[in-house]
Amino acid sequence: MLTQALLVDDSRSVLNFLKRHIEAEGLVEATTFLDPVEALACARERAFDLVLVDYEMPHMDGISFIRTLRTLPGCVDIPIAMITSRQTDDVKMEALQAGATDFLPKAPQSVEMTVRLRNLIQLGAAVRKLNDRAAHLASEVAAATRKLGEREEEIILRLALAVEYRDNDTGEHTLRVARYSRIIAEQLGLPARLCRDIYLAAPLHDVGKVAIPDNILLKPGRLTDEEMAVIRTHATIGEKILADSSCELIQLGAQIAAGHHERWDGAGYPNGLKADEIPVPARVVAVADVFDALTTRRPYKEPMPLEVARDYLVQNQGRQFDPACVEAFLSRWNEVVGIATGQTTLSQQKSEAALSPFISGLTGSPPDRDRAPDAVAAV
Ligand SMILES: [Fe+2]
Repeated sequence: MLTQALLVDDSRSVLNFLKRHIEAEGLVEATTFLDPVEALACARERAFDLVLVDYEMPHMDGISFIRTLRTLPGCVDIPIAMITSRQTDDVKMEALQAGATDFLPKAPQSVEMTVRLRNLIQLGAAVRKLNDRAAHLASEVAAATRKLGEREEEIILRLALAVEYRDNDTGEHTLRVARYSRIIAEQLGLPARLCRDIYLAAPLHDVGKVAIPDNILLKPGRLTDEEMAVIRTHATIGEKILADSSCELIQLGAQIAAGHHERWDGAGYPNGLKADEIPVPARVVAVADVFDALTTRRPYKEPMPLEVARDYLVQNQGRQFDPACVEAFLSRWNEVVGIATGQTTLSQQKSEAALSPFISGLTGSPPDRDRAPDAVAAV
């Protein structure tokens, strides 16, 4: 690859000489400008490996040129030599402070000029190699970081699915709760990053069920008070499983697991938190979780029609649910119906794929509305 040199001098003859001289060194392509302002405009558009600039020029002197050039992207560390003839040490010092790397004497065909030019060319090529390497490494690090994040998301979802498969063999409850939660978070106007994280962490809400005995978790029919008390421990157990993680998504999962059965009026469990005491992500998932539990079949009940479940949310906002979360959920009712009936639009599928390719790959199948995903979804 040729070393790209930018030559700036208001003398056509000097420019021609420099161009010939520098290109004679081989593997160098020189671009020349009589006007330093035009040269700067060009340097904004394309990358150079080496710059030679005169000191005395109309419109802009060499020092101002160097100072401006150094502020341009890609020009921070390339070699810049100022062509000097009778300049004083003060001028040279000012040029150095502006960012000059070296000086070239205006002495055509001198050995000193040849040697300095050769060194500058080598330096320019070396700087470019270093920068190319740094850019390559930065892209490798970014790709590895992205991969790690995807693995994190995948493991979180697989953990949630492993728990859900104990009492529901489709995993669809977990995925629908994630989708409903995302709608609510977005409509609440939460930051985009938090909306995404709630979407990814919501599947962990029932992870504590892993510790609930089969004879209680899988019991057909209604539970006794004692059995209900055991089931209710899943919120605290879920928090304990996920607590103290250095992973932000798992920290959020712990908050959701702990708080998704709290009620707005303080009558929920495990801590009886009230209103703003309940973390927002847990309030979001509470609405999503209950709506999905209402609208799917249990061993002892038919799925509630969507419109009836909608009325339930409205009637219980301010009591069981954060009114803002209910309002947010209902404000995108058509999307809710699409998710509940397994008829999501292409744009929904695309936006989910952008958030998490792994999760979106699992959401293509229609929902199983014949199973009971959560025997105690706070209803
Ligand atoms: Fe739960």
